Amino acid sequence: MTLLLEARKVRELAYAPYSGFKVGAALRSPDGRVFVGCNVENAAYPEGVCAEAGAISAMVANGAREIAEITVVADSPAPVPPCGGCRQKIAEFATAHTRVVMATLTGLEMTMTVAELLPGAFGASHMDKS
Ligand code: THU
Repeated sequence: MTLLLEARKVRELAYAPYSGFKVGAALRSPDGRVFVGCNVENAAYPEGVCAEAGAISAMVANGAREIAEITVVADSPAPVPPCGGCRQKIAEFATAHTRVVMATLTGLEMTMTVAELLPGAFGASHMDKS
């Protein structure tokens, strides 16, 4: 199944009673495995978790550490870009060139690289002391 189909499928399972905005994310690690996530909201609003974060947690919990490609889908008029926090979370496990595909249920699609989404990203190298 394509990442888009996986993302659309998991999106249906999203728990979004407060925003009513369901999001699905599917990522592929270099070995070909696919991990999915959906947004999970909470009555204490800031405790909600984005779809991308869920997919990354599933990846790490299954022993993978690299995002080769990630697709995010939502029922929006235009492709939804990952929020700022999710851009940072994606960057942790991707390269500057990794493709982030954003899609709508109606078939609109936009692709950007991690570097385009998060220019000047803070990373582990900024904590080097030498
Ligand atoms: N959301 C995601 O899951 N991913 C995004 O890329 C954008 C926003 C969720 C968070 C919240 O549950 C809902 O969409 C509305 O912001």
